[in-house]
Formats: sequence, structure tokens, C-alpha cells
Amino acid sequence: MGTLAQQGVQMQSHMRAVTQTHYGNPEDVLVVRDMPAPQPGPGQVRVRVMAASVHADVWHAITGRPFILRLMGSGLRCPSQPIPGTDVAGIVDSVGEGVVGFVQGDSVFGECGIGFQWANAGAYAELACVPQTALAHKPKFLSYEQAAAVPTSGLIALHTMLGAFPLRAGHRVLINGSAGALGSLALQIAKAQGAHVTAVDEAFKLPYLQQLGADTVVDYRSRPVEQLKETFDLIYDVASTLSVSGCRHLFKEGGKLVWIGHDHYGAAGRAVFGSAPKGLGLALAATWDANLSKPIFTAPDRTKGMRVLTGLLAAGQITPVVYKAFALEEAKAAFALLQSGKHQGRIVLVPTYHATHHAVASHASGQPRRG
Ligand SMILES: NC(=O)c1ccc[n+]([C@@H]2O[C@H](COP(=O)([O-])OP(=O)(O)OC[C@H]3O[C@@H](n4cnc5c(N)ncnc54)[C@H](OP(=O)(O)O)[C@@H]3O)[C@@H](O)[C@H]2O)c1
Repeated sequence: MGTLAQQGVQMQSHMRAVTQTHYGNPEDVLVVRDMPAPQPGPGQVRVRVMAASVHADVWHAITGRPFILRLMGSGLRCPSQPIPGTDVAGIVDSVGEGVVGFVQGDSVFGECGIGFQWANAGAYAELACVPQTALAHKPKFLSYEQAAAVPTSGLIALHTMLGAFPLRAGHRVLINGSAGALGSLALQIAKAQGAHVTAVDEAFKLPYLQQLGADTVVDYRSRPVEQLKETFDLIYDVASTLSVSGCRHLFKEGGKLVWIGHDHYGAAGRAVFGSAPKGLGLALAATWDANLSKPIFTAPDRTKGMRVLTGLLAAGQITPVVYKAFALEEAKAAFALLQSGKHQGRIVLVPTYHATHHAVASHASGQPRRG
């Protein structure tokens, strides 16, 4: 059996997509228009996108900030891929040559890009091509919106948290910036390993963190992490506001700090090199400072990572919370909400936006919901 194209099956040739022709703030550069539909190359699966997630790494790729990402494959003068977005959930539309294990109609989720995640990868569209190596079957009970929230942030959490510190039952973990895309998955992954998790974020997000399974919650404004009395095996600093010297008294024996490098949507002011100089400095310091974990500069192993994430989702150990769904035409509003920090749960774009999705949006405007 060949590909659908080889079988003469008519494939959709055009689609609606969020696009950009140059770098800039989402509100200034994003335009929804008709685009040629991508054709699946060898090893690629074309997915009818039911949902795609909105997160910090897509913001970086749209704005071209920090500048260094343009040298890392995003495109020097303008984005080489005009359609933003990295991860999707949807239905297999057609498969390229050599694809094994996925057929038309399968419900799937995965990551569109290859290499580093700081580049547009074509997710914010009606159709997107995903390498089969970064695609998995979606657990049946999970909505497309929930599934789309997992791949990029989940792969980063596995890679940078468990890759740096293999957690096991009884370990005590502090996650600084727990309520964001990465922290909310890291929290649940740490809990799945049997760790005790102290989750730190803004006061109004603490009930959400308890809902995700946090054992202890801390409002970073009223109780600075450095003033806590507990000690930890791992401090996973997504917000990237801590220093190893400031946390020295918080480490158990062999305890480590993993510093992620969050630029806070440009507010950190590192427009050219972003977190890279600090990350390199920490990598150097980790050669003599036992409390520092070596920063990881490689891209995650997506095949292995998607297998692990699917297992955790299927076992109910990760339950992504969707805060609000937006139509493609509302992409600018979706990024404004992301940058505002007012959400408790994930933000997704839904290309086939229809009445049922309003239910997700309106429900989410109050209490966050599971499922
Ligand atoms: N190291 C790596 O390998 C790697 C790889 C990929 C991505 N990244 C980076 O990792 C970051 C991922 O973050 P994300 O997607 O989870 O971001 P996010 O969704 O913006 O979440 C960040 C959370 O931290 C909270 N926060 C802000 N200031 C804080 C503080 N001082 N103390 C505690 N919490 C604070 C934020 O709340 P409020 O702002 O509302 O207060 C928010 O809830 C991105 O910047 C991405 O580029 C790193």
C-alpha cells in the first residue's frame, strides 16, 4: 500500500493558517491567510490539526528574540517557516513514504519541528506535517486540546528535569514557576516519580497547583524561596529567578539546581543572547560547584519522550488543564493572554473552532478544569 497521493486520493491543496513575514510582537506580525497545504515528505505524517498549543517558545520564535535564535535555524532576516507553532493534536490526513504505524483517521499528537524548539514549525494551521519520530497515538479519553498542550513542554520537562536529575520516590523537589506550560507538566511528572513537590508561583495560581497534585504551595511574592526552611534534592527553576548561592542552604546532600533560562517575554532584557551567556556560565561553574546541574544544550529525544509522555497520560499521571481555546483568527488575543500571566492552565488554538469549543473557553474563564 503506497501513500494516499500515490493511490491517487485527492489531497487538500490549500488551508487557513496563522502566518508572519517578519519578526515582531504577535499583535503586530500575525496574519491569518490562505496558504498552500504542506505535503508530507518521507517519514512525515500530515495531520488535520484539531488543536495547537500557545507557549513561551512559540513567542520567542515569532518575535525573533533573543536574536541568537535566528542563528540557531529560525531564519536570519525573517522566519524561514512563516507558520508559527510547534505542537499539535489532530487526525492523520495522509502519510509520506516510509511511514509505519500511522494511518489515515488515527488520532495523534506530537511535535512538528526538528532540532531546537525555538523555531516556527507550522502548527498554527488547518494541516501540519509532523515527523513520525515525534508523533504518538493520543490516549482516547484525552481531548485534542489537552493533548496539544503536552508535546513541546513535556519533552522539555523530561529532558531538562529527569535528564538532569533522575527523580525517585521520596525525593523532595521545588519547582519555581510551577503554573506555566513547563512547570505544570514538570510538577505532574515529578509526582509520577513519587517525589514530594513544593510548587512556587503567584498566589492566585496556588489552588490550581494543588489541583495538579502539589504537596506544598508557596506564593513567591509573600514567601521568597530563599527564606524557606525546608531542604530539597532538586530545585527546578523554570522562572529562572534563583541563584545557586542564594539557595545553598536549601539543598539536601547532593542537591542540585536546574536553571531553565526563562526570558519572561522580553522582560528579562536579554535581547541578543537571551539566557545563553548565563547558561554557559552555569555550565562552566557546574564543573566545580556540586549543587549545579550541567545545563543541557541538546534537543530532546522526541521518540523516547513521546513514548514516556503517552504512558504518563494514559496512566492518568499527567492531566493537562486547558484554560482557554482560541480560533486561529484570535491568535493575537491568545498571545496577549499568555504574556499577561492571568491564565491558570494551558492556552490552545483550535483551527476548526466551533460551538463545542466555546464550552472550553467559557468554562475556563472561571475555575480551571481538568479535562
Ligand atoms: N533550558 C532549556 O533547555 C529550555 C528549553 C526550552 C525552553 N526553555 C525556556 O523555558 C521557559 C518555559 O517556561 P514556560 O513555558 O513554563 O513559561 P510560562 O508559561 O510563562 O510560565 C512561567 C511561570 O513562572 C511564573 N513566575 C514569574 N516570575 C516568577 C518568580 N519570580 N518566581 C516564581 N514564579 C514566577 C509565571 O507567573 P507570572 O508571570 O504570572 O507571575 C508563570 O506562571 C521558556 O522561557 C523557554 O524558552 C528552556
